[in-house]
Amino acid sequence: MQKNKPDYYNDLDKIYLKIWDLLKVGLKNRDLPFHIPVFICGSKDKSDGRIVVLRGVDENEKKIWFHTDIRSNKIKILKSNPEGTLLFYDKSEKIQLRVSGIIKINYQNDKTIKSWEKTAHLSRQCYLGDQAPGLTTDMPTSGLKEKIDNLKYTLEESEIGYKNFCVIETYIKSIEWLYLAAKGHRRAYFDLNKTKLEKKWLIP
Ligand SMILES: Cc1cc2nc3c(=O)[nH]c(=O)nc-3n(C[C@H](O)[C@H](O)[C@H](O)COP(=O)(O)O)c2cc1C
Repeated sequence: MQKNKPDYYNDLDKIYLKIWDLLKVGLKNRDLPFHIPVFICGSKDKSDGRIVVLRGVDENEKKIWFHTDIRSNKIKILKSNPEGTLLFYDKSEKIQLRVSGIIKINYQNDKTIKSWEKTAHLSRQCYLGDQAPGLTTDMPTSGLKEKIDNLKYTLEESEIGYKNFCVIETYIKSIEWLYLAAKGHRRAYFDLNKTKLEKKWLIP
């Protein structure tokens, strides 16, 4: 019955190792689906999701993070409710992860200084718009000046984007795992919020 099943199929400890492995490999490899999870957060009235790029994974501190514009709508939501979930799915691995936790908005601190330094010259384009993302506009536009749109700005000129840059860390409280198999899915739950990791099986 276990033929062709991965070695973690019925093993919670191995699943937990596999989770961190998937996150770390997804972080480094932009071609993998784990590189671009959906980040979900919500206020009292409304929840929403959006794709983000995974920018960091710290297994020791049990946190993962992405970059965003401090003026974006998700920041307003997170200020009212600092909880979020990153949703991952890899079709070839047949694995879905829901990584949930408490959000820290890093703005103009040591974390953002380090991350901004590592942000490539051309990737800084996202932070160089004069107007906040999500504002309405009369005309179709990228929101960027022509020079910036055409990537004709120097590294020095890109520094101004730092004022819009922030790093959203999720301090992980729980991870839910779903493995799809033709003959018998497997679902598991990991509570990282306790001093000792708690792990249990769920009915898929
Ligand atoms: C492939 C892809 C990668 C993206 N990466 C990010 C990202 O790392 N950070 C981010 O804030 N938005 C990213 N976006 C844009 C978001 O999905 C979203 O449109 C934007 O953040 C505005 O969301 P908000 O209005 O909910 O704040 C990405 C979109 C795509 C399609």
